[in-house]
Amino acid sequence: MIAFLQERGVAGATVLEVGGGVGALQLELLKAGAAYATNLELSPEYEDVAVELAQEAGVSDRIERRLGDLVADPGLAAEADAVLMHRVVCCYPDYDGLVGAASERSRRFLVMSFPRSRALIRLGMGAVNLAARLLRWEYRTWVHPPDAIVAAAERRGLTLVEESHGRIWQVAALERK
Ligand SMILES: C[S@@+](CC[C@H](N)C(=O)[O-])C[C@H]1O[C@@H](n2cnc3c(N)ncnc32)[C@H](O)[C@@H]1O
Repeated sequence: MIAFLQERGVAGATVLEVGGGVGALQLELLKAGAAYATNLELSPEYEDVAVELAQEAGVSDRIERRLGDLVADPGLAAEADAVLMHRVVCCYPDYDGLVGAASERSRRFLVMSFPRSRALIRLGMGAVNLAARLLRWEYRTWVHPPDAIVAAAERRGLTLVEESHGRIWQVAALERK
């Protein structure tokens, strides 16, 4: 997921990670020389661990953590050189709104991972949603059409420059040229 950015060099870059959880990816980018990272996360549950990890890595003064929904409140996140969304698009119903808001915040790169649209994966995600409903969790997942996810970023001026596929996840890296 971040190899694409590391290969291009992140020295001095600003990073926005949307739905970054505990922030593992941004920590790697900061260690690789990125200047500053902002994490915008819907859930407050990661905060304690995230703060500890940033302290251990010695980068607390180069991370800002914000809570909120990028789509409902886009002003929560400023523009950054690189915007990341790892396993996030599948946790939000409005992929066009989410990818659109993330794209509009990207000065140069947008890197996203999301599930491949395969019958078995859709079936698995359906089972996860059924279990979540039975357990009365709010959590739901969506297998949005991969081409439409990429097209949502392209409509905001980004160009697909690299794609890779694992068994479940695929990664799309886009650049503003
Ligand atoms: C499956 S978790 C992935 C966390 C982390 N990126 C990882 O791979 O470990 C998806 C995260 O995206 C966050 N998220 C989903 N939609 C969001 C939105 N519109 N704005 C901010 N965060 C969002 C959720 O709160 C959740 O923590």
